[in-house]
Amino acid sequence: MIESFKIGDVEFKNRILVASGTFGYGDEVPDLVDISKLGGVVTKSLSMKPRDGNPNPRITETASGMLNSIGLANIGVQKYISDKLPVLKKYDTKIVANIAASSVDEYCKVLELLDAQQRVHGFEINVSCPNVKEGGLSFGTDVKLVSLITKELRQRTRKPLIIKLTPNVTHISEFARACEAEGADAVSLINTVIGMAVNIHKRTPKIATTTGGLSGPAIKPIALAKVYETVNAVKIPVIGIGGIVSWEDAVEFFIVGASMVQIGTANFINPATGITVAEGVKKYCENNGFDDVGRLVRTLQTNKTISIVDSWL
Ligand code: SIN
Repeated sequence: MIESFKIGDVEFKNRILVASGTFGYGDEVPDLVDISKLGGVVTKSLSMKPRDGNPNPRITETASGMLNSIGLANIGVQKYISDKLPVLKKYDTKIVANIAASSVDEYCKVLELLDAQQRVHGFEINVSCPNVKEGGLSFGTDVKLVSLITKELRQRTRKPLIIKLTPNVTHISEFARACEAEGADAVSLINTVIGMAVNIHKRTPKIATTTGGLSGPAIKPIALAKVYETVNAVKIPVIGIGGIVSWEDAVEFFIVGASMVQIGTANFINPATGITVAEGVKKYCENNGFDDVGRLVRTLQTNKTISIVDSWL
């Protein structure tokens, strides 16, 4: 059974990654989870300087989902390189550094520092955080800026370059096409959906910044539709993210056309979800006559003439 998948020159042992912001820097969970069984770990977003993030409360639970407004809190790239990366040397998995920034220049500088690190195998570029005033969505909803960022970063690394896209736009495929045109190796989607929750006793928002990003099972149908739209628009691999809690969920994403998937919010309930998903996907493939997980990808049967999303493309 072939489970591995290559992006650029990097071979991931399986198609299951853990999503940024749900697995720390990768060094906190190895006592609980054998991370060597994962295709890779996507780090928390890293910026040039440490960030405290948004004021509390910045997380609340909603029906079938979680609303967060962390505001890209992180230790900064220098501390990541000095304190976190060395610990990860002993694990046999790929490390994808997620980068967030408030300017094109900051993206470039952070990427250059990380590109020099052998233990960093690739990059996921966060142009889609809904919880910050600078960067985040102000970049990710502007197709010209997404193009520019991709172009600048592509010139600075030969390692896999993945752009993480927001669903908070009308046509996500337009953004994926721009990334592909500027040399991205893959796109990952979706980041969180802008959402809100209200405390009816205090008549206040449940999180300090009023709105936040919704993740978890509530957004899986949105994510599947965005992945479907995107795989029909680009040739580069699409990494599916959004509400995956079981291997069955992951199989849905593969059938729709995702080449890899990321497990996010489910890690807060069980950080070993990625491993059970990888095992379940493998068994499903064996039981259904696929000798390579890749053969399952994009096996969805649709009637394109009546499909609404196909009429946009
Ligand atoms: C956050 O730090 O606010 C969440 C990160 C993201 O949505 O990209």
